[in-house]
Amino acid sequence: MRLIVEPATRPLAGRVVIPGDKSIGHRALLFSLLSATPVRVLGLGDGADNGRSAKAIAALGATIVRAGDAFVITGAGLDGMRAPAAPLDCGNSGTTIRLLCGLLAGQRFASTLVGDDSLSKRPMRRVMEPLAAMGARITGIGTGVNVTPPLVVGPAPHPLRAIAYTLPMASAQVKTAILLAALYADGATTVTEPGPSRDHSERMLAYLGAPLTVAGRATTIDTRGWDRRLAGAGFEVPADPSSSAFLVAAALIAGAGEGGVRLPGVCTNPTRIGFLDAVAAMGGGVTCEAARMAGPEPVADLVVRGAAPALRATEIAGDLAVRSIDELPILAVLAARAHGTTIVRDAEELRVKESDRIATTCAMLRAFGVECEVHPDGFAVQGRPDGPLRAARVHADGDHRIAMAAAVAALVADGTTVIDDADNVATSYPGFAAALGALGATIRVE
Ligand code: S3P
Repeated sequence: MRLIVEPATRPLAGRVVIPGDKSIGHRALLFSLLSATPVRVLGLGDGADNGRSAKAIAALGATIVRAGDAFVITGAGLDGMRAPAAPLDCGNSGTTIRLLCGLLAGQRFASTLVGDDSLSKRPMRRVMEPLAAMGARITGIGTGVNVTPPLVVGPAPHPLRAIAYTLPMASAQVKTAILLAALYADGATTVTEPGPSRDHSERMLAYLGAPLTVAGRATTIDTRGWDRRLAGAGFEVPADPSSSAFLVAAALIAGAGEGGVRLPGVCTNPTRIGFLDAVAAMGGGVTCEAARMAGPEPVADLVVRGAAPALRATEIAGDLAVRSIDELPILAVLAARAHGTTIVRDAEELRVKESDRIATTCAMLRAFGVECEVHPDGFAVQGRPDGPLRAARVHADGDHRIAMAAAVAALVADGTTVIDDADNVATSYPGFAAALGALGATIRVE
């Protein structure tokens, strides 16, 4: 599939409802499988990645029934899962495969986890190592640094061993895998992380009654004296801040017209909105209105108003790089329109996302005529705020976020931009082109 995008001829305007957050959706599905009572999940996104997690929990014994605009998930409880009849296909979804590793690490049966070409190249040793220290059995392809799917998980000894583990990198997927396995361990398991990775698992597991405590960067699950019961009435999945970032950026570089661009009910969990902090540092105005709590998560309407602001370069490093890790490709597009050189560092994790996002982000910007220097742990973008970018032919390398970032850059190009290999936009945001179109952009899917 390819996207064909024309330069914006007028400012963007309108209200777009962004689908449910992908990270929270995965957790709502996988954690509901562990619940002793049915869980009502409202606002689940329609992306293919969440669909993979839904299929996986069904194969493990959950039933999922649509009830109006919600789904009611009847799980199997912590100890009632059944062995899947076939390999669990995680598609393009790193979160599905890594969280399943943790969930299945403590089961008495074996499961096979497979994925698409991109997922089959992604590193799994990072989850295997701590889970093996807990006594779990997981094997994959290769034995070196880069053990890859297919993976075989289990059967496990009972119970698993509680461990204290310090993550070598800030990863919510690895952290969550350990916390899930910890539910099947006999004591206090503590995970300490070097940076503020997203904390949805902590919030949602505590909400379901898991024996979980957080102290600074350390999260502990202590199963001693626990009745081994998770239960909760439901989850409201807020709109995805990562999907929202593309439309916010579009409104910032093409300008917002009458009434502005409004995205209601977006998750504003501080571990997810490094993007907004970086945008503010660049001089971009985004307001958060109608703030409220949606269960354990804060949400607000994101609103962009007025003409495209004059953006200035910034530096994104340290904790901010962790809190904006999925948004760095679209922040790079904003940097391409800013005065000065924007530097991104401490982001080596970009190398092992759906594509090598240091390489693919720079290649994408260069296609638009923007100078971008590749660094081992990030990149440097030389802004071109004056005049249009060069219309481009971009290869998205099967990476949804590269395709969507390129579509936004195309709004300020000097002609038609074509983005090839964009099918995977459907993994996170199938309605992306329609949403950009609804705001007034001209974008076609072929
Ligand atoms: C995710 C965690 C992050 C993020 C990914 C979703 C999650 O990955 O990049 O898109 O839902 O836990 P890492 O855990 O590899 O940092």
